[in-house]
Amino acid sequence: MAKPLIAGNWKMHGSAASATALASHLAQHWNASATPQMVVFPPFVHLADVKRALSGSDIALGAQNLSQYANGAYTGEVSAQMLRDLGCDYVLVGHSERRAVFAESNETVAEKFVAAQGCGLMPILCVGETLQQRQQQKTLQVVAQQIAAVVERAGQENVCRAVIAYEPVWAIGKGETASPEQAQQVHRAIRAQLGDAGKTTTLLYGGSVKAENAADLFIQPDIDGGLVGGASLEAQEFLNIAQQLIEQD
Ligand code: 13P
Repeated sequence: MAKPLIAGNWKMHGSAASATALASHLAQHWNASATPQMVVFPPFVHLADVKRALSGSDIALGAQNLSQYANGAYTGEVSAQMLRDLGCDYVLVGHSERRAVFAESNETVAEKFVAAQGCGLMPILCVGETLQQRQQQKTLQVVAQQIAAVVERAGQENVCRAVIAYEPVWAIGKGETASPEQAQQVHRAIRAQLGDAGKTTTLLYGGSVKAENAADLFIQPDIDGGLVGGASLEAQEFLNIAQQLIEQD
């Protein structure tokens, strides 16, 4: 069985004060004995504050991005080791906003994946198709290529040890979710691509997950949790989504 996980991607939102308040609320209200692992992804500059606010809780910390390079003259970049030093256990790799807005290629994503694992960070590899690609019936092909590029560089076993998040680009931040059947179809294909070792790989769904649609998604056999954007900025809503995952267990 794959380990369930509920992840909150805060994107470029909030202030030091609001990030600390959100993390403190989660730390106070998240039951430490609950089975799903909870992890939050604040902006880089709030990682240290959030780490302090989470201390004593079971909630893990993650970063939204990392450099593919270990160190050197890379102005503005943040390395995997720097994130480890700040107490991060997870990192998002290849989020669609990084791919689309910052032109990250499959190859760059694969390099970042390797850099993350090399420092002991758990990568959450994000994959997903655009609306146009879905309309052209290329969804499974696009997702398979995004994963294959990482397999090629990191190896199948290492990809299977990571977390993979399927986030259809057309469902992100739009209030429009993939139907549970659409999501399950892609998750099943990812699981098949990963082979035997992928049976225990945690596969998340992301794209307008809310408390009201979470249960129908999480009940799908190949969906092991969620990567939540907008709804993770409201502590109670995020806790309610996490609760739906506990109830599927
Ligand atoms: P929304 O939940 O806001 O659609 O964002 C999803 C996402 O991109 C999480 O990484």
